[in-house]
Amino acid sequence: MKHLTKVLATTALVSASAATAAELEVVHWWTSGGEAAAVAEFAKALDATGHTWVDGAIAGGGGTNAIPAVVSRLLGGDPMGATQFNHGRQTEDLIQEGLFLDLTDLAEQEGWRDFVFPSSLLDSCTYDGRLYCVPVNIHSWQWIWLNNDAFAKAGTDVPSNWDEFVAAAPALREAGVAPLAVGSQAWQQAGAITEVLAVAIAGPEAWEQVNVAKDADVAAGPAYAAVFEAAAAARDLAADITVTDWNLATAAVIEGQAAAQIMGDWAQGEFAVAEAVAGEDYTCLPGLGVNPVLSLGGDAFYFPKNSDADVEAAQLELASLMISKEVQVDFNLKKGSLPVRGDVDLSAANDCMNKGLGLLADGKILAGANIALSQDTIGQVNDLIVQFWNSDMSAAEVQEKYAGIIARAD
Ligand code: GAL
Repeated sequence: MKHLTKVLATTALVSASAATAAELEVVHWWTSGGEAAAVAEFAKALDATGHTWVDGAIAGGGGTNAIPAVVSRLLGGDPMGATQFNHGRQTEDLIQEGLFLDLTDLAEQEGWRDFVFPSSLLDSCTYDGRLYCVPVNIHSWQWIWLNNDAFAKAGTDVPSNWDEFVAAAPALREAGVAPLAVGSQAWQQAGAITEVLAVAIAGPEAWEQVNVAKDADVAAGPAYAAVFEAAAAARDLAADITVTDWNLATAAVIEGQAAAQIMGDWAQGEFAVAEAVAGEDYTCLPGLGVNPVLSLGGDAFYFPKNSDADVEAAQLELASLMISKEVQVDFNLKKGSLPVRGDVDLSAANDCMNKGLGLLADGKILAGANIALSQDTIGQVNDLIVQFWNSDMSAAEVQEKYAGIIARAD
């Protein structure tokens, strides 16, 4: 009898999940080693429910290929089960078009407002009081990654800030090490200059005046003149090595061909895959060691509306899983990002992640560009910076053009 009950219970369970099991195509751009390891945690969690994760990865760091492909599918009436966007203003128009599933009831039932930290992450998902995305991480652009051995080889100390790094460059070159690795895509150069160097050199307040208040006078003024001079110096320091993808630049640092990379903390996922130890093999300096802050950015998942009730149920289940405690920890430890909840166990965090958590706890945070600026403005900045990077355009000229973009920015 006991045995029979067990069999019946198992049968009931199997048929219940079979009736509702759905396949969800999930589009994202996480194809580097660290990214793939992290997204596999989401897939594993969904598959464990009986639903099936159909991986829709579109390679191209920063979403350069995925975002336009997703937008065209959505506008063309070909929705996927779920899709990644950067956290912020990228989806403004799509939300207004009514293309996404409303997650408000789920978020209320599960009390997302009570545990999401900082809660402003939910504001970027909210339109007209309704919630349309699940934030899955906090990623910050504000880092430089340094290979400790490269500096030992050059006979210098590992720098503790940008100026010391610039000063070490001749010794690095002498030792056959490229000082800086910067990938050839516009988003990488623009991020390094208009997010990271700008915050480090002009300071967080000037950065906010330019990017949040859109004050073109500050963009044209002396604090930003110093930013673009540093950008010209960075362009020179990056001339010794040619790479395209951001993760190949990270690999050059991990292998010691290059000494440093200015890149967001997704780079940390690559160091983790290579089993490099933070603080021993490599060093990370938030705010280039000058102005340590975190710029708030990261990734959020949206669930395009679907007429199939089983798919919708699976979409809600995936949203719930992505923000659940266990999945938040497993995913973010691999991704190099910080969890979006303040109530999880991060005892496994490494040296760099702990620096990030400390900044978050101290409230040393800024809105990142994707939150502050429209996609159109970001596109114009990227176009300008890639031109600057690939020519001998002077610091004064790029600054004047940049200030013009800020004057028109929305
Ligand atoms: C960012 C994204 C990160 C990281 C990076 C490189 O847009 O927020 O999660 O993957 O691109 O692909």
